[in-house]
Amino acid sequence: MTANQPIGVFDSGVGGLSVLREIHRELPHEDLLYVADSGHAPYGDQSMTAIEARAVAITELLLARGAKAVVVACNTATGAAARVLRTRYPVPVIAMEPAVKPAIEQTRSGVVGVLATRQTLASHNFARLLARMGEGAEILLQACPGLVERVEAGELDSEPTRALLASYVEPLLVRGTDTLVLGCTHYPHLAPVIRSMAGPGVAVLDSGAAVARQVRRRLAEAGLLASPRQAGRVRFWTSGPPAKVRVVMSRLWGADLEVHALADDGATAQARAAGVWVLEGA
Ligand code: DGL
Repeated sequence: MTANQPIGVFDSGVGGLSVLREIHRELPHEDLLYVADSGHAPYGDQSMTAIEARAVAITELLLARGAKAVVVACNTATGAAARVLRTRYPVPVIAMEPAVKPAIEQTRSGVVGVLATRQTLASHNFARLLARMGEGAEILLQACPGLVERVEAGELDSEPTRALLASYVEPLLVRGTDTLVLGCTHYPHLAPVIRSMAGPGVAVLDSGAAVARQVRRRLAEAGLLASPRQAGRVRFWTSGPPAKVRVVMSRLWGADLEVHALADDGATAQARAAGVWVLEGA
């Protein structure tokens, strides 16, 4: 493993770009590989076993492409697969944790709302997080089915998206929430709408920047931080229709991106054995 290998980052779709952006900001010299598993999104309503299988398949692809570390930029995949990935692969695996701790530290009303997928809220990881946080605040949990699909479609502030968001956020506000935790990496893309809905008295937190700092720490510990040379290169793949996904990803990233098709289905092990790069096209 050498310091000039890339960092692999993945999510069920375009949501993890909210984390990738923070990693790129924190570590501008690192080469980054991003996989949007949009062909299999949303993860949030699938079984833990199905999500784990996707996480394993994508991690294999990233490692085959030379990743020195893997970032699970998806809260749902973290709950379903982080433990397995850490046991199975000999690279640093950095995963998500909803920003419940900072929310408890900063709430003044004592009421914190957490927006996440059903599977994240049902995961052992999340139960352990809540147990660790003790009695610091009243924590209201809100599953948000349908929101990931809105973001995948690039509908960040359409009327249907606003209506769906309002149905999730307003009940939390009525109960005195002054701190909202975005426990899904797709939701920071909706933060401007959420903020306008909640008003200036409500803090909206996500954990992208904290995860980026954690990536830095883990790489530094392992002696794997890239040396400050030229700017890092960021490359993108998707299991969804690349032309369509490209439009949404370019909008979210703020630049015209090249997005390659992910050629994994069933071929991973064979392709690896044959020494073939399976993240083709870049
Ligand atoms: N971005 C994923 C997360 O953080 C979305 C999961 C999904 O696809 O439902 O949970």
